[in-house]
Amino acid sequence: MTEDLERLQKEAEAELSASKTEEELFAFRTRYLGRKGILTGLLRNVANVAPEERPRFGKRCNEIKAALTGKIEKALLEMAFRKKDGELLKEKIDVTLPGRRVRHGRLHPITMVREEICRIFAGLGFAIVEGPEVEKDYYNFEALNIPKDHPARDMQDTFYVEDDIVLRTHTSPVQVRTMEKQRPPVRILSPGRVYRPDSDISHTPMFHQIEGLLVDRGITFGNLKGVLTSFLQQMFGEETALRFRPSFFPFTEPSAEVDIRCVMCNGAGCQVCGQSGWLEILGAGMVDPAVFENVGYDSEEVSGFAFGLGLERIAMLKYGISDIRLFFENDRRFLEQF
Ligand code: FA5
Repeated sequence: MTEDLERLQKEAEAELSASKTEEELFAFRTRYLGRKGILTGLLRNVANVAPEERPRFGKRCNEIKAALTGKIEKALLEMAFRKKDGELLKEKIDVTLPGRRVRHGRLHPITMVREEICRIFAGLGFAIVEGPEVEKDYYNFEALNIPKDHPARDMQDTFYVEDDIVLRTHTSPVQVRTMEKQRPPVRILSPGRVYRPDSDISHTPMFHQIEGLLVDRGITFGNLKGVLTSFLQQMFGEETALRFRPSFFPFTEPSAEVDIRCVMCNGAGCQVCGQSGWLEILGAGMVDPAVFENVGYDSEEVSGFAFGLGLERIAMLKYGISDIRLFFENDRRFLEQF
């Protein structure tokens, strides 16, 4: 009987070392140690063994069972390690390969120009304020001396949200909102998005303006000229020449449009300036007494000037860009040049 057991152990061990896959090992375990397995069967039928042999027989059976269980576990563990090693070998990283270039984000040219303008005016004592882009008709037009049905409304095509609500067509409503809240002196700069149903090489339906407003006792057109000259020379260089042309805005009187000598051709005349040698850059003027009246300022006591400039126009001149739409296409080849 004991000899049979020794033979069984040898056969089992030979079979075990021939098992090469996990599936084969599991099948082996079931065949010998499972509920209906060979060893389990032998132990269950211990009654058939002669009584004096039983203790030794049982002990040997248990020893063989323990030995096989240990070997199966060891083989399974080795297999798992071999598998992991194979995976790691496949995933090997070559640290000598050159790295991938990280693309850096950068500021949009409009943002850069806006920040530069704000910095220059902050140096002249102007505070930065913002206003809503969805605006009441009252602030966008009426309070600025542009009543309903007034022909001046045709100067700026308008997106209406509701009857009395518009997408602001300029940053000038911030003048009114500021003066309603604050007594003079006022010295503010207000950058922001504005909207008009316009689209061609020099117009987009959304663009950016910067509004400036200064109100105090004894402010004159001379102050307006001084501030704008200082700004434009800091922006485009000391030798920048500018000229003031009479113009009309319902909310300023007198009004002017300011041109700078063309930065492309230095005044000789080119395609960009339409051969005139000058480029229009902003609208400006002395605040109309009717606007002061709407915000409760006494126009006998205080006076002031306001100006509004198109940010895209300034950025186009600064960087020599001929089509305004490039700013909004977000083509990386364009943006990466700044
Ligand atoms: C105004 O919007 C006035 N609010 C400016 C102002 C403020 C005058 C304070 C007096 C006192 P205007 O409509 O001209 O004015 O626009 C000002 C600038 O915005 C223009 O010089 C131009 O550079 C720019 N602009 C106008 N329409 C567009 C557009 N569709 N796309 C891009 N830029 C535009």
